[in-house]
This record gives sequence, structure tokens and C-alpha cells, in this order.
Amino acid sequence: MAAYADEINRRRTFAIISHPDAGKTTLTEKFLLYGGAINLAGSVKGKATARHAVSDWMEIEKERGISVTSSVLQFEYGGFCINILDTPGHQDFSEDTYRTLMAADSAVMVIDASKGVEAQTRKLFKVCVMRKIPIFTFINKMDRDANDTFELLDEIEKELGIATCPVNWPIGSGKSFKGVYDRNKDVVLTFSDTQKGTKEGETTEIPAGDRAVLAQGIGGEAADKLLDEIELLDGASAEFDLEAVRSGELTPVFFGSALTNFGVEVFLKYFLEMTTTPLPRKADIGLIDPVENNFSAFVFKIQANMNKAHRDRIAFMRICSGKFDASMEVKHVQGDKVMRLSQPQQIMADERKILEEAYAGDIIGVFDPGIFSIGDTICMPKEKICYEGIPTFAPEHFARVRQVDSMKRKQFVKGITQIAQEGAIQIFQEMSMGMEEIIVGVVGVLQFDVLKYRLENEYNVEIRLEPLPYEHIRWIENKDEVNVERLMGTSDMKKIKDLKGNPLLLFINSWSVGMTLDRNKGLILSEFGRN
Ligand code: G4P
Repeated sequence: MAAYADEINRRRTFAIISHPDAGKTTLTEKFLLYGGAINLAGSVKGKATARHAVSDWMEIEKERGISVTSSVLQFEYGGFCINILDTPGHQDFSEDTYRTLMAADSAVMVIDASKGVEAQTRKLFKVCVMRKIPIFTFINKMDRDANDTFELLDEIEKELGIATCPVNWPIGSGKSFKGVYDRNKDVVLTFSDTQKGTKEGETTEIPAGDRAVLAQGIGGEAADKLLDEIELLDGASAEFDLEAVRSGELTPVFFGSALTNFGVEVFLKYFLEMTTTPLPRKADIGLIDPVENNFSAFVFKIQANMNKAHRDRIAFMRICSGKFDASMEVKHVQGDKVMRLSQPQQIMADERKILEEAYAGDIIGVFDPGIFSIGDTICMPKEKICYEGIPTFAPEHFARVRQVDSMKRKQFVKGITQIAQEGAIQIFQEMSMGMEEIIVGVVGVLQFDVLKYRLENEYNVEIRLEPLPYEHIRWIENKDEVNVERLMGTSDMKKIKDLKGNPLLLFINSWSVGMTLDRNKGLILSEFGRN
């Protein structure tokens, strides 16, 4: 066993997925508060400050007042070393948000109790399912009027297709919110709205076994309702099964209120117990064990121009195995080059800290002189590991790109190809055409602005984007068995190809996707492109 096995085994690396406004930022702040990383929640990443503080990598961010950058927060709690991968919360999220999930070992899904499952959660959830990582659900804002609890669980099961197992159960909501019942401990934790933003003000615990005692604590009516619901729940909900949680088939569900700091620490404790240590990763030579193997990592995100004055690029790597030491030599497998990683750092919300060492489970950002690509592997000089690539995620917005000044053709093609290779956008061509007709696809519309801005500022090329009505793109999984030219599509379907010549299909609505599948027996379409 490696000497640093304990360091690796105490790491927990996860992402928080949610729809904007569900409370992801507030929950993260409360986690940091418990970890002692900040004294008062809000001082690190409060919404008001986040608008300017998180990063300044592009003027666009400042102009639009939102953050396109995601970062990593590391803190200690109860002997664990926790890495939270922050995913951009704004509606205009990008492919990077999906890629960040490739670096996580589990996900916390925050749901607004009065809204239920929302669009962005649904999209991010699909990526977690593809990876079969454990998903924990925190139903937030119980201090406000909430949807019926059974209906919320039903919605998660039906909409997302994952079984639910409530670890605690809410007693009322909004003005009549009394607290939660902890099913493991058989106690009720009472809610009081006096603890806003502070760590103090622990709740009281009432044993739930004695109705009279319970009624005294939360009132007779609430006690009767709770006892009825517990009975119903014990009969109806899935049994807790840690194996099923670890394989992403069952989600433990918690209720609370991040803003008033209720149920957050309980959730954190259960979560840390139930979630996994850094997971083994698939590589060409088999599964790489985080503890048994030497240092290895893969690049999951590249960020250009974080600091405009330096014009640098930062490659974000997830360490998959072993220990990283800043002074050691490593091999960039795809470039077949031995090197020292330049300025390894931990990227926090608004600061960068130079790192001396890091372990499997950690995320490091390194200075990239333009050699890394998304999905690349880094390992020890004498080894050769190649991690499974990161899929390409389906863009949802498409536009035809027109050059304003046709004299600058060369710069235009160079610029747009480079930006696509970095993974900021995806580019496609009409099936029978070359680079004269380019279609750009993006996950979030802000990426269109990023493209326009970067082409103008870095390549001196002005473009015009003509929006196209397509919203769905599908890769043809069995492209070698299918005659793409003879596919029987719908009238709105468009055949295109990516830079490598892979055929893809564009559709205006999801109905057409289903229709095309019906009309072409044996055709297999996918929402993820394999590299
Ligand atoms: P996000 O990162 O998921 O986008 O959500 P964020 O935490 O920023 O929360 C969105 C809004 O919901 C914030 O209010 C926040 O205070 C509120 N909120 C979060 N958790 C709870 C909760 O448990 N109960 C209640 N009642 N509200 C909650 P805001 O007015 O939009 O922002 P702010 O001005 O308060 O910062």
C-alpha cells in the first residue's frame, strides 16, 4: 500500500448540479462554513461579490455580469479533504459544465422544493447517469411553501429514472415547517429560523418513538401526520442499499434549507459517509487504481485567456492516481513529451494558489503553452497510460458563420479551428461541403459571444452569426453499418459532418428524432459523441 494511501482515501471530489436559483451557491457557502474555510457564509462567494470576483478572464464576463468560469473549492471537514467542483450556474452554461462532471466522483443534486426537477438539472443529471456516479439529492428551501413531498420524490423517479430513498423526511414547509425526521436515528430535528448564516444554534432532537413527547415538541397535528407518513414511507420507498447508491441507481434524499442553515451539516455528514473515495478510471490498459498506481491525470478543461495581460491558457487536470509533486517530471502521453508541469496551482473562486503536492482526487490547473487538448493523459515518464476520452456533448444552439471580410479567409479558418480544438465551440460542415460553409454548435448561447469576441480580438476577424432553428443533434453510433445518404429522415432533418468527417443529424424537435429512428430500423443515435 502506498505511503500516501490515507491522503487519497480521505478525499471526496464532487460536483453540485442544479438549475439556477435552486440554492447551489448558498449550500456551497454553508459547506465552507462548516469546514471553517470562511467565518461567515457569503464572504467567499456571495452572489453580489461573485459577479466581479470569481474571475476576470474575459471582458465579456464583466460586460454581461456573469461568470463563465468554473473553479474548484477545497476544504477540510471531519478528517476529509473535500474538493467541490463548481459548475457555472447561469442559464448560459457551456460544454465545460458537462466536462467538469467528468472529473467528479459523485454529484449533489440541489432541487428547489417548490419547483421540482428543472431543465438544467435534467441535462446535468444525464451526464451523471452516463458515468454511473453516485447522486445525492438535497431538496432545498423547505422554509418556503414546498410541493407535496411524495410528489417530489415521484417526480424525481419518473423524470430522471432513478430510485429515491429519503434519509430524512420534512415536517411541513414554509411557515409551518417544523423540521425533519431522521429515519436512521428515529429522531426529529426541529427547525428554528434564528440561525441565519451562522454555524451556531444547533437544533433540538426529539425521539420520535413516543407520540406524546413528539406532540409536545412539534404539535399534535404535525405529530400525527408525521407518524402516518413514516408508516407510508416505510412501506413505499426503496430500501437503502449502499451498493445501489454507489452505482448511481438509487439516490439518497435529504430535505433542508440552505439559507437558514438547516439540515446542511447533517446532509454533509451522511454524504461524506455514503459517497466514494476517488474512483478508479478506465484507461487503455485497464482500470487504474487511485492508490496502487503512480501519478496519472487527465485534462478535462482548457481555459483560454484567463488573464488577458498574459494571454495564458490554463489546463485543468484531474489527478486519477498517485501523488503529484511539483518538482517531478511527467509525460504528456499524446505529445510524447517528458516535462515538468508549469506553475501547478489550485484554482479557487478568486485566487490561484501555487501547489507543491496533490493527490488522486485533486484538481490542478497548470499553465498550458498550447500543447494540451481536452482528454489528454499525463503520467510518469516511464509509463504509458491513455485514459478514455471525454465525450463531446450535444450542442443545443446552432448558427451559420459568415465572414464579414472575405479577404481574411485564412485567419478565419485558423481561428475557428483552434477555438473548436480547445473545446469552446463545435464546428460542423454541410455533408457535401468543405470549410466554405461552417455551422457552429454550442451548449449555451453565451459561447456564440465568446467565439465572436475571440475571433475579433485574437485573430482580427469579424464574423456574423445567422441562427439556425435546430435544437437537437445526434451522433450515429453505428455509422459503419448505416448508409447515411439513404437515411429516411423527416423534412426538418439536416445531415452534417464534424471536423473528422463523422456524420451527424440535426433536428428541429425531439419528435423528429423519434420519427427518424422509427423509419430507419437498426439506426442507433446518441447524444454523446465518442472521441
Ligand atoms: P444558485 O447558486 O443555485 O443559483 O442559487 P443561490 O444559492 O444563489 O440562491 C438563489 C436564491 O435563493 C437566493 O436568493 C438565495 O438566498 C435563495 N435561497 C437559497 N437557499 C434558500 C433556502 O433554503 N430558503 C430560501 N427561502 N431561500 C433560499 P436571492 O434573493 O436571489 O439572492 P440574494 O440576494 O439573497 O443573494
